Amino acid sequence: MVGWTDFERATIQSIFSKMNYDDVGPAALSRCLVVYPWTQRYFGNFGNLYNAAAIQGNPMVAAHGKTVLHGLDRAVKNMDDIKATYAELSVLHSEKLRVDPDNFRLLADCLTIVVAARMGAAFTADVQGAFQKFLAVVVSSLGKQYH
Ligand code: HEM
Repeated sequence: MVGWTDFERATIQSIFSKMNYDDVGPAALSRCLVVYPWTQRYFGNFGNLYNAAAIQGNPMVAAHGKTVLHGLDRAVKNMDDIKATYAELSVLHSEKLRVDPDNFRLLADCLTIVVAARMGAAFTADVQGAFQKFLAVVVSSLGKQYH
């Protein structure tokens, strides 16, 4: 059971309520696919991932980036029970998609970088702390069904 301070709760709610999913989702996923090219192996049906420009212009990558953020939305709305919220999604990623759970952290880090760039000076150390704590719980919960 994870505890959240009022500041952490307010920060997470605020970041997601202001976030432009159509911008941030595609940017975070495409960054992950460029920076950590081995993550491309799970998206073999997404067509051309030949270089950074192709990845950034790929409509399936963009659509899936938005899907991932909508997935995160569920954790934002259920901050006190993220583990249960992600039980099914964890099974999907482990048993069906066979995604190596180390990759969750890589995508989370790319998302942090994109959010930091969009927020600029408002992304203070305290805000970063709250955001990364939230993502660490997400990453751990998504990894729960792996064995
Ligand atoms: C599918 C969320 C990380 C690979 C999905 C779906 C969601 C989701 C909501 C759609 C599930 C459905 O259709 O019912 C997330 C979240 C992540 C995460 C919240 C972490 C922050 C990753 C990572 C990879 C990955 C790191 C691989 C490197 C996939 C693949 C699919 C998928 C291959 C199926 C895509 C398709 O063919 O449509 N994910 N995911 N996910 N995810 Fe993730």
